[in-house]
This record gives sequence, structure tokens and C-alpha cells, in this order.
Amino acid sequence: MSKPCVQNQVKLGLSAFLGVSKKKKKQPQPRTVLITGASSGIGKELALKYAKQGTVVIITGRNADRLNEVAQLVKAKGADDVIAKLVDVANEAEMEKFMLEMDAKFKLDLVVANAGVSSGIIGNVTIGPSTYYLLFF
Ligand SMILES: NC(=O)c1ccc[n+]([C@@H]2O[C@H](COP(=O)([O-])OP(=O)(O)OC[C@H]3O[C@@H](n4cnc5c(N)ncnc54)[C@H](OP(=O)(O)O)[C@@H]3O)[C@@H](O)[C@H]2O)c1
Repeated sequence: MSKPCVQNQVKLGLSAFLGVSKKKKKQPQPRTVLITGASSGIGKELALKYAKQGTVVIITGRNADRLNEVAQLVKAKGADDVIAKLVDVANEAEMEKFMLEMDAKFKLDLVVANAGVSSGIIGNVTIGPSTYYLLFF
């Protein structure tokens, strides 16, 4: 039996190290997904990704125009149903009530708690111990 070449050995070593198998694991497709903060950015893109036949997509946000626009796009992509709810995630009681309602009605497979703000780095900020958090939030 011939020895594997160095390049293949490196590839095999890296795969093992990173836990990557040759076979791609198929992710189960959620049938009901609730995404908070879906009126823009990452939440919107996730809503569109999950929007397909056989899925119910539930989206939340605070901006009615943008949330409704996303709801229309989700529907146009073929989702069985889309529910758009204006709710502030900081309102714990309303958020809990809505999620329990949705779970009772649709049996949620996946909840993406995405709503939030990215402060990012604006202006002339020197990154140091007291400002590292700006890179991540
Ligand atoms: N983009 C990045 O590089 C990055 C990096 C690290 C973490 N993140 C996190 O990933 C998430 C999404 O980021 P993004 O870049 O997609 O931000 P984005 O485009 O600003 O979207 C944020 C979404 O969250 C919603 N939202 C914000 N506060 C809310 C509140 N109190 N109640 C309900 N909805 C609220 C907004 O909806 P309305 O405008 O309709 O209220 C909007 O749909 C955030 O939690 C952010 O902190 C992002």
C-alpha cells in the first residue's frame, strides 16, 4: 500500500483536528421557526432562508413597515404561513405571552433570539481593554 502524500496527511490531520468529516451532516429543516429582530439584517436574512414550502415563519420587530415588507418577501418565497408581530423584546411579559401562544398554536421547532443592537465601532475609537466589547456587540 502506498503512503499518503504529505498534503493529504495534512488535510486528514486538519479534518480530524477541526472535527470535519467528509460526509456533510444534513441539518433538519425546522417546520416552524420564530425569529426576533427580523425586520432587518441577520434576522431578515434568516427569515428568508427558512421561507420555503412546508414552513411557518414567525417574525418580530418594532418597525411595522420593514417587518411587513419582510413578511411579504417570506410569503412570496413560498412559506406556508407567516406571522409578523410588533413586539419589543425588552417587554418580557409580552414576549413570553407571544412565544407561548405561538408554541401552543404551531409547536415551535426553532427560536432564534436575534433582536439586538450592534453598536460597532463609530468614529475615532482606540481599541483597548475598556473598548474591546465594541468589536463584538
Ligand atoms: N452584524 C454584526 O456584525 C453582529 C456582530 C455580533 C452580534 N450581532 C448581533 O446580531 C443581532 C442582529 O444584528 P444585525 O447586524 O442584523 O442588526 P440590525 O440590522 O440592526 O437588526 C437588528 C434587529 O433587531 C431588532 N431589534 C432591536 N432591538 C429590538 C427590541 N428591543 N425589540 C424588538 N426588536 C428589536 C430590529 O428591529 P426594529 O428595528 O424593527 O426594532 C432589527 O430587526 C443583534 O443582536 C446584534 O447584536 C451582530
